[in-house]
Amino acid sequence: MDAVTERRLFEGMQAEQTRKEPPQGFPELAVIPGARYTDPAFLALEMEHLWKKSWLYCLHEDELPRPGSFRLWRKTGSPIVVIRGKDNEIRAFYNTCRHRGAPLLEDEAGETKGFFCRYHGWTYDLEGALTAVRERRDFPNFDPKCFGLARVRCEKLGNWVFLNEDPDAPPLIEAMAPMPDHWKDMQLDTLHHIHSSSFDIACNVKVLLDAFLETYHLKSIHPQTVDRFLDSRGSHHVLYGNGNSLMVTPHRREGWEDPGAVGMPVIDTAPEIFARQNASYNFYPNLVTPVAATGIPILTFWPKGARQMTVDVHWFGPEGSQGHELWRTRISNFERILEEDTQFAPHIQESVESAGFKGIYLSYQERRIYHWHEELDRRIGPENVPPELRIEPLLADHCTAA
Ligand code: FES
Ligand SMILES: [Fe+2]
Repeated sequence: MDAVTERRLFEGMQAEQTRKEPPQGFPELAVIPGARYTDPAFLALEMEHLWKKSWLYCLHEDELPRPGSFRLWRKTGSPIVVIRGKDNEIRAFYNTCRHRGAPLLEDEAGETKGFFCRYHGWTYDLEGALTAVRERRDFPNFDPKCFGLARVRCEKLGNWVFLNEDPDAPPLIEAMAPMPDHWKDMQLDTLHHIHSSSFDIACNVKVLLDAFLETYHLKSIHPQTVDRFLDSRGSHHVLYGNGNSLMVTPHRREGWEDPGAVGMPVIDTAPEIFARQNASYNFYPNLVTPVAATGIPILTFWPKGARQMTVDVHWFGPEGSQGHELWRTRISNFERILEEDTQFAPHIQESVESAGFKGIYLSYQERRIYHWHEELDRRIGPENVPPELRIEPLLADHCTAA
């Protein structure tokens, strides 16, 4: 992160502490229709235009340690396999035989020398090329070169691997702006995968994601945890292009250190804003990361139907973090906070589906949620969103590039 950006973020937090009202000219946010959180037809629009066309976090390179290491990945509903080739490159393919669509790999994860279809025996190498076809004499005009496995876009930031089913999507680094710039001193190439866990929650994916886009709830939901060390009145939020956003929140005490992380290896080049304050990014649509010098957790939120979702929590730390005894405490502290965040989610879903719910009424402090929805309509195409579910675009003039 350059010094000017970092200074602007510190000044932003200071200004938040003293303001008496939203900045002059900030628009009143329109009510967000509840059916965006309940309607299966709206979820179908999201699947088509958002989830199948966005860069989505898949895994860390450590999780595919050797050539032939693979994992299946079905977060968008499509059967995808991510695999390390003989050349050490990580690639993603549809796990779909080019003959008649049988699956090629059936285990969730493992190691293989290639792909062998158990239906009629077609064989592919680790790079996806078709190498053998049984009864070739019965395919007289057949060019195997045209029948390699269908690729899925697969790009990396540091050792994090992201997938995108849209062949025409802009490059990952562009879609993530300004995060790759902000994180250039975070030694991303040296981070290791420490731990991953998954939690299923009975609510629309946005019900829970929304809780990670604001700090308005800290005092009431997290009085014994986050609110003890973060000062939500100083929380400064920044809206970027592509739906991305950031919130930086000051610690209550100068020099506060996470007791669960004291003594752990640190990223010694981390900018002050990550080392001394709380900075949480949203890479649109579903990745939230509170970046810290002691490590970078990545939370990803996934729809599993209009009323069911999964949140995955992945931890990454600098060299020396793997197997460190303090991680267990740190992860369990974090899971306690996550439980505080998830406690109301199924009840909120119930409410949103009831006649008692009249829409989502957002404050200035919750504007990242509105920004998120504006981007969703932009991606779906406003003309494809039923008029009663549309979001009025209000925040374009309140976004910044860096
Ligand atoms: S479906 Fe794979 S060989 Fe027939
Ligand atoms: Fe929270």
